[in-house]
Amino acid sequence: MAQILGMVTSSHVPSIGNAIAKNIQQNEYWGPFFDGFKPIHLWLKEHKPDVAVVFYNDHGLNFFLDNIPTFALGADHQYLNEDEGWGIPTLPAFKGDANLSWSIIEGLVQRDFDVASCQKMKVDHAFTLPLKLLWPDEASCPVITIPICINTVQFPLPSASRCYQLGKAVGEIIQSIDSDLKFLILGTGGLSHQLDGQRAGFINRKFDQEFMQSMVTQPAWATQFTNHQLIEHVGTQGIELIMWLAARAALGGEVKCVSSTYHVPISNTAGGIMLLEHLN
Ligand code: DHB
Ligand code: FE
Repeated sequence: MAQILGMVTSSHVPSIGNAIAKNIQQNEYWGPFFDGFKPIHLWLKEHKPDVAVVFYNDHGLNFFLDNIPTFALGADHQYLNEDEGWGIPTLPAFKGDANLSWSIIEGLVQRDFDVASCQKMKVDHAFTLPLKLLWPDEASCPVITIPICINTVQFPLPSASRCYQLGKAVGEIIQSIDSDLKFLILGTGGLSHQLDGQRAGFINRKFDQEFMQSMVTQPAWATQFTNHQLIEHVGTQGIELIMWLAARAALGGEVKCVSSTYHVPISNTAGGIMLLEHLN
C-alpha cells in the first residue's frame, strides 16, 4: 500500500523566489528562513518521497474572481507555472500523474467532497516556491505532484474544520492506494499576515506559536475557530493556515516533529516551517 512519510508546511511569499534568483539566501535577512530547510533537505535525502500532495491556495493565476472553486484538484501529467506579475522567475513544469489524481478525486467524491477536477491547471508561487525550497539544487522538481487548491481568495471560504476533514479524507485515500509510492504532504501559506487595510503588517506571534505547537500535540486545535475568529487572530491572509490544517489531517495520527522554524519577518509575514514525520 502507498505510504505517507511525513508533512512539510511552509510559508510561500513570492519574494522567496527573488531571494533565490538573486542568490541572497544566506544574507542577514533571509538566512534564518532558508536555514530552516537544512534539516528538511537531509530528511528528504534519507526518505526519498515519490509524490508530493500540495495543499495550497491559488492567488489569481489559475482561478480568478469570476470562477473560484472551494476545493480543486489537478488531474494532469504536468502543471505549468506562469508569470504572475511578481517579477519572479518562472519555474519549469511540475510533473503530475493524472491516474493518481483521479484516484484521489474519486475517493473524495465518494466521501461527499464535491471537488473541482482540473485537467489543465496553472500553479502559482504558493505551489512552486515551497517545492523549490525542498529541492533547491534540482533543475526541476524531482517528484510527482498533486495540487489541491483551497479557496482563500474570495468569500465564502471553507471552514477550518471542513479543511481538516478534507485533509483527513485525502490521507485515508492515499493509504488505500495499491502501490509502493511514498508520499509527502505539503501545506503552504501563512503564518500570520495581512497585506492590506487598517491592520496591514499585522503579526501575531503568540497565536502562530500556539498553532505550530498544536500541529504536533493537538492537530485539530484550530478547528474550534470560525474563519472570522481566525482572521482576527492571524490577519486576512493569515487564514492561509487552513492549508496547514488540511496537510496535518492528511498526515494523520502519531507524529514526530523533525524540525520547526519560526522567523519574523519574511516579506509581510511571519515565516513558519515544519517537518513532521509519520510514526507507524
Ligand atoms: C505576500 C504573502 C503572501 O501570502 C502572498 O501570497 C503574496 C505576498 C507577502 O507578504 O509579500
Ligand atoms: Fe499567499
